Amino acid sequence: MIKYLGSKRVLVPVLGAMAEAAGARTAVDLFSGTTRVAQEFKRRGIHTTAADRATYTGVLAGCYIATDARTVDREHLAAVLADLQATRPVRGYVTETFCEQARYFQPKNGMRIDAIRQRIEAEHAGTELYPVLLTSLMEAADRVDSTTGIQMAYLKDWAPRSMRDLELRVPVLLDGPGASVTGDVMQTVDTLPAVDLCYVDPPYNQHRYFANYHVWETLVRWDAPDHYGVACKRVDVRDDETRSVFNSRRTMPAALADVLSRVRAKTVILSYNDESWITAAQMADMLRDSGHEAVEVFAFDSKRYVGAQIGIHSPAGKKVGAVSHLRNTEYVFVAGGAQAVRDVAAGLAGVAGGQRSRVLDRTAAALGTLSTGL
Ligand SMILES: C[S@@+](CC[C@H](N)C(=O)[O-])C[C@H]1O[C@@H](n2cnc3c(N)ncnc32)[C@H](O)[C@@H]1O
Repeated sequence: MIKYLGSKRVLVPVLGAMAEAAGARTAVDLFSGTTRVAQEFKRRGIHTTAADRATYTGVLAGCYIATDARTVDREHLAAVLADLQATRPVRGYVTETFCEQARYFQPKNGMRIDAIRQRIEAEHAGTELYPVLLTSLMEAADRVDSTTGIQMAYLKDWAPRSMRDLELRVPVLLDGPGASVTGDVMQTVDTLPAVDLCYVDPPYNQHRYFANYHVWETLVRWDAPDHYGVACKRVDVRDDETRSVFNSRRTMPAALADVLSRVRAKTVILSYNDESWITAAQMADMLRDSGHEAVEVFAFDSKRYVGAQIGIHSPAGKKVGAVSHLRNTEYVFVAGGAQAVRDVAAGLAGVAGGQRSRVLDRTAAALGTLSTGL
């Protein structure tokens, strides 16, 4: 799994238990990112559609959600990856741009990425293995990168992991059907299936995924774009159409309210954190206004993303500032019919244990009149 800002690694078992307690047989993960939450739903036998606007997330969803492991010949897949791994390295766009002008990868690995990526395009584009092979390459590159987990900058001194040789691994595919939808949620939300459960995990602040993960976008699109700045970002990072309404304080609240009113799901589970532009109480109102009978909120103390743990760095990798805090509170809202929401609360009892009880009082106080259901 790639390193990803806002990824719900710690919350995954909780979200899976909630989905099961809600009795979901079908689900949409509306901002699927790494697909770890969608994977958790699929692993529990829930037919899941993963949706996100980034091209690289579409590839991850194509691999882990839309591909049914039962239809893949594992021996053949392993042989294809072994053959790709043996490709003679060549110096191409990735090496020149991301290893020589910038320093996201060591040149020896950049040349492997160039060579393998070219062969995937030439020999596997349009096949069912295409997203699986691209995912294997993206994850292999992520394991030897030299960043703090975002691609706005790279480390001044090479990260120790970047010294290792790039190694393709077989992605752990899941049995069962699923679907992937790539596009801006403001357009795709009406085309998504009506489902039992929708999980909503939008960006809540100015951090743009398109800019933060421009290297993955370029690796997947394979369009060798012009680039700018020390970080060698794609020039279209500056374009309006690559901006998300969720990254603007002015547009985000109305956009989210709009999406919530258009989602067709009996139960909505929404991740929210206290670094957001809207308050938890406003969020609860938004969910109620979108037509749900009951809304409950659960809170979890969590570590902030790895970049925050390490500190704030300049593009040259120099530490330029201190982070304000290393922990934050993750909120999970559940909205739906009163019984479904009660079932989710009951289902959570055995999973989160002490993890959630530590922050209950703080949450209840912060939310004022809102029932926490705990
Ligand atoms: C907080 S992350 C989701 C993380 C994900 N739950 C995980 O665990 O990996 C938010 C996601 O929203 C996507 N996104 C941002 N704006 C969007 C938009 N307008 N339409 C669809 N997806 C969008 C980003 O590409 C990003 O993957």
